[in-house]
Amino acid sequence: MSSPASVTILFFALAVLAAMSPNIAPQAEAARAFFVFGDSLVDNGNNNYLVTTARADSPPYGIDYPTHRPTGRFSNGLNIADIISEQLGSESTLPYLSAELTGQKLLVGATFASAGIGILNDTGVQFANIIRISQQMEFFKEYQDRVSAMIGPVETKRLVNGALVLIVLGGNDFVNNYFFTPYSARRLQYSLPEFSSFLISEYSKILTRLYELGARRVLVPGTGPLGCVPAELASQSTDGECAEEPQQAAQIFNPQLIQMIKDLNQKLGSDVFVAANSMKMHSDFISNPQSFGFVTSKMACCGQGPYNGAGVCNPTSNLCPNRKLYAFWDPFHPTEKANRIIVQQMITGSSEYMHPMNLSTIMAMDSRN
Ligand SMILES: *[C@@H]1O[C@H](CO)[C@@H](O)[C@H](O)[C@H]1NC(C)=O
Ligand SMILES: *[C@@H]1O[C@H](CO)[C@@H](O)[C@H](O)[C@H]1NC(C)=O
Repeated sequence: MSSPASVTILFFALAVLAAMSPNIAPQAEAARAFFVFGDSLVDNGNNNYLVTTARADSPPYGIDYPTHRPTGRFSNGLNIADIISEQLGSESTLPYLSAELTGQKLLVGATFASAGIGILNDTGVQFANIIRISQQMEFFKEYQDRVSAMIGPVETKRLVNGALVLIVLGGNDFVNNYFFTPYSARRLQYSLPEFSSFLISEYSKILTRLYELGARRVLVPGTGPLGCVPAELASQSTDGECAEEPQQAAQIFNPQLIQMIKDLNQKLGSDVFVAANSMKMHSDFISNPQSFGFVTSKMACCGQGPYNGAGVCNPTSNLCPNRKLYAFWDPFHPTEKANRIIVQQMITGSSEYMHPMNLSTIMAMDSRN
């Protein structure tokens, strides 16, 4: 295949192909920008710069990251946003608060996510100083002003409209708000279905605001099976079964989220928002860990107490020797291996996993216009 003749033929074939489809983006064009909003599932270091207890900047976090050092990611290695960047052919986005985020690096995108936050402002108050979602979107506006000063408003709008956006919210509104104490204010105020409807209506406003700020392709994963994380198994479960109430919460919230996204898209007349059924993605390996190469989906790799689910992962915690064999890294967050399985489903999953379509379909569509 590497003789000069075959190279010439290949070149000719490519030239014909290129002439036939003039809209295919040239190789040299930069990958689309990527913007990330949300909580600890996608924070990649913003909280390192804040006075908060919601942080992942000490070992063994990052043990399987290329540097083998903690970065602020709540993972042994990469999180789902990193793996999506990999698939886009880009380097990982930098945390918005990082001093390195200047010049050409701004054009890659940015991560505004902050561990501990939720849809509601009162979610995560126990973590003190975190970047709530409205502030994350203010930073997105500020980001656009900075980029505009560099490449002008027209190109900035093009970059933002052409970007892929990921927003991960909702889990903390249950775990760190509604269920945080047996008599939380939100629990006294709302039944679970009422609370979920309230979250959905607030989330709809957040997504609408993102649209107003220029986002045109937004990936919106729902919550995982909240009752099955090691933290819940440790605190709520006696027999290793998923904890009932948080599990119920996820079962109520996720279908409502998909419906809300359908409604928003219909209102906008375009498939701007794409729901990812994280509940189903996670449930697959929770119900059958072995078929994904995991020895357990109940026990966290790093932690202490039952299921390694009590307290937080810290330098004195138990640590599993092989992170590829565990679905959960710490009491709440998946391992890089599990994150890879989730992103794979986002890319190629059927309509059970992705509404109204998967990422590979999106990438193909968006590269044509
Ligand atoms: C949350 O706080 C922000 C900033 O203070 C405010 O603009 C926003 O309206 C609040 N959201 C809700 C739902 O109260
Ligand atoms: C998802 O992606 C695959 C290609 O990997 C494609 O064949 C399939 O039709 C897509 N499914 C949906 C629902 O978009």
